[in-house]
This record gives sequence, C-alpha cells and structure tokens, in this order.
Amino acid sequence: MELLTTGEADIRRAADGIKAGLLVAFPTETVYGLGADAFNQVALARVFAAKGRPRFDPLIIHIASLETLDRLADLSALTPLMREKAAALMARFWPGPLTLILPKKPEVPDLATSGLPSVAVRCPDHPAALELIRLSTGAVAAPSANPFGRLSPTKAEHVRDQLGDRVDFILDGGRTSVGVESTVLDLSGGSSPAAAAPVPRILRPGGLSREAIEAVIGPVEFLAPGFSASEAAGISDPTAFTPGQSGPVSPGQLKSHYAPITPLVLYSPEAMASLAYSPGELFIFFSPKSRDSWLAVQNRTFPKDLIWTLSDSGSTLDGAANLFDLLHKLDRLEAAYIRVEAAPPYELGPAINDRLSRASTL
Ligand code: TXA
Ligand code: MG
Repeated sequence: MELLTTGEADIRRAADGIKAGLLVAFPTETVYGLGADAFNQVALARVFAAKGRPRFDPLIIHIASLETLDRLADLSALTPLMREKAAALMARFWPGPLTLILPKKPEVPDLATSGLPSVAVRCPDHPAALELIRLSTGAVAAPSANPFGRLSPTKAEHVRDQLGDRVDFILDGGRTSVGVESTVLDLSGGSSPAAAAPVPRILRPGGLSREAIEAVIGPVEFLAPGFSASEAAGISDPTAFTPGQSGPVSPGQLKSHYAPITPLVLYSPEAMASLAYSPGELFIFFSPKSRDSWLAVQNRTFPKDLIWTLSDSGSTLDGAANLFDLLHKLDRLEAAYIRVEAAPPYELGPAINDRLSRASTL
C-alpha cells in the first residue's frame, strides 16, 4: 500500500492504478471509499475480497458528470413522474451525499449490482474524488473503505489501520466533512408492489436529510429499521425512534454494521439522563447541554476522557461529522462499554441513530 496526497500528480497515479485494475481508497465528502473500475470484474472481485464483503451487497458507482449516467442507468424505464423527480434531485443535490437507485443498463457488471435490476449511482462532492473519477474510467465503484461490518473511515489513517495492504493506494485528503455515508434513495420502484404507484423510498438515512429531499420532490417513504437493541436497552422515546418496524432494507443494511470492537449501547435522551455510571465505561452525550444536566445530578467528579459529547455545538451536522472519528478513537481505549445518547430525530439525527443502532451490541 502506498499513501498518496491529493496533489495533481498523485491523483493521476491513482487514476492510472484504477485503469489498471488496482484498488484506490479516496476521500469523498461523506466517508473514504474503496474505489475500483466499475466495469472491471476482476477489480470488483478484489473490492469484495479486500473488505470481506458478501457478494449480495451491491456497490455504489461514483460518477463525475451526468454524461456517464447514461452508461449505467436506464432512465427511460422510470415512470415520467419518477424521471422528473430524478432529474430534480440530480440538479439540486449532485455533486453531494445522495445515492440514487435507478434501473440499470445491461452492460453494468452483475458483480457491481449483486445481480439486481437496479444500480446505485452517486456524484461525490469532493474535488479529489471528482478528479480521480474523471482521470480514470469515469465510473468508479466504491463501498466505504472499511472491513465489512466495521466502522466507516473518515480519515486516511482509519483506512490504513483497518485495510492496510489490502489496498494499493490511499489518497489522503484529510478528514471528511459530512462524516456519515450518503443517503440511499430508491427511485427504481423496485420494492413497491407491482400495482402500486412507485414512491421514492429512503433505504439508508445519510448525509442528506429527508427534509432536504422532500423539499424538492415531495413525500418520500422511510421506515426506520427495527431498533430491537435500543428497545432492549430501555429506549422508550417515540420521537427518537420508530421501534419494532422492520422496513424494506437495502441489501447491505444488516443489523450488525458500523460496529466498534468495544460493546456499544444506544439510549434515548430520557434513558441516558437517568443512567448510572459504572467503572470502566465511556459515556457519549449528544451535546454539552445533556452532558451537563447529567453531571449536575451525579454526586462526584469524573477523570478526563470518560465523559464525551458527540456535538459541541449541539447540531446534528457536527454530530455526524464527529461520529466515526470519535468511535474509532474511543474504541482504542479498551473500555468495558460505550454508552451513547441518541441524536435528535431531525436533520442528520436519523442517520446518526441508524449507524449507532447498528453498532449497538444488545
Ligand atoms: O457515502 C457513501 O455512500 C460511501 C462513499 C464511499 O461514497 N459509500 C458507501 O458504500 O457507503 P457502501 O458500499 O458502504 O454502501 C452502499 C449501500 C449499501 O447499503 C448497499 O446495499 C446499497 O448502498 N445499495 C447499492 N446498490 C443498491 C441497489 N441496487 N439497491 C439497493 N441498495 C443498494
Ligand atoms: Mg459501508
């Protein structure tokens, strides 16, 4: 593995690598991706092997311009209304943290889509990623650059530490800005009953909020995944979660995902407020406000580095940006448990809570 910068010459080397079938980890605005030529079956197989990812979990294909979309997706297979919504979303949010599931062109390798009739496409909002895509093959398949089931990388060193020599190049673009993966929105109607009019459906909450999407195309469906772990941990806040619903999921939306090694438990704000501290544990409050009210009722002080906050500003955008880096960091402290307060249920809160509930061990 060779570490590269995001300078022009290094991006060119990485792009040549992709053309030659190599694997290149690169920064996007969400998380680092593990990139390969989307039309090279051998390179795609190496992506699955490097991550230890099951082949039934399809990849997102990254593009740098709308012209490439034509090689991947068959927009004519959409209803006129859905086609209009797709165009409106691309115009408004690309480049950006939105992945669209669209009917696929037959030429797209089955390995990239796991044999599904649809393809996931996104245009990342990051200059180095766009340049890498442009200078290579124009279509770069890239899952998040972490071993299957583990924490996503928001820094080059997270990729190096977790994948090391299983990748050929890592482009170091510093810390990613959004911090959680793209929102995956299904426009293909794939999961609707044949008779029903297809409705856009969020398969994975992510870096683009539901509110932002609905402001452009109207109502979308989003069924939060089951929160059995949270329920077991006593979460009862109906505003933070929709317990017990197991909606249609993206093939990769497995319960045990995004997991640190240290056992992690997710709590509603109410449950967290009344939680008692036990030695060897780490607490992550969402904001200084909830941390301080909890501290105010403890009859003791705490040594440094036991009590954390996800967002010092209390905004869900900051919370998302900090999420994986904080979990990577705390995972190294070998605590008995990490106990985390859920984010509020708006903006990027649902994406944060989705990742935390999948990381939850109970
Ligand atoms: O922000 C992101 O999306 C990052 C960066 C690198 O772009 N990528 C990423 O890829 O998160 P990955 O592979 O970790 O997640 C892709 C998600 C999975 O949940 C997968 O199941 C879903 O997209 N997906 C891909 N193709 C699909 C399809 N045809 N239908 C439904 N879901 C699909
Ligand atoms: Mg991933």
